[in-house]
Amino acid sequence: MPGAMGRGAALWGLLAALCGAAAAAAPLRCNVSLDSPAEERWLPLLRHFEPAFLRAAVARVIDETVPKWVHEVLRPIAAELEFFMPQPFVGEILGLCKALGISLGDGVLLNFAYESTAFCTSIVAQDDKGNIYHGRNLDYDFVDLLSKITIDVQFIKSGQV
Ligand SMILES: *[C@@H]1O[C@H](CO)[C@@H](O)[C@H](O)[C@H]1NC(C)=O
Repeated sequence: MPGAMGRGAALWGLLAALCGAAAAAAPLRCNVSLDSPAEERWLPLLRHFEPAFLRAAVARVIDETVPKWVHEVLRPIAAELEFFMPQPFVGEILGLCKALGISLGDGVLLNFAYESTAFCTSIVAQDDKGNIYHGRNLDYDFVDLLSKITIDVQFIKSGQV
């Protein structure tokens, strides 16, 4: 669908221009191996970031999106969701929480905070050579914070991107 791709790319370009400030620097490109166990696959990325900065980022996002009393009530319940959330998500959240010293309840809450505050738009298109393009605007709060930890992930499976 070359025509659709053209429109998709043009629209993405327009969105990127409108969000000019956030588009200034290309995010760090990194690999995440789907051949690694869920709990371990994101850990190699952590060496690119200051753990204290990440912990502070998690605390700030939760602080500003979840009222304090709700946080107190939900934190233990969110940790129990471990038993209800599907894999590989639980494993991935668990692995990062352990590595960063964040409670599982906060890790789960953070993921819900994102779901309830983000209003992103995505475009997926394929060109006539079979290349797939995924464009996504970053239409959420905390742009100052999240633009510093935005990454460009290549998922690897059986050694292939
Ligand atoms: C990511 O994986 C691909 C394919 O295995 C490899 O060519 C590339 O060098 C890797 N990039 C990084 C940043 O490790």
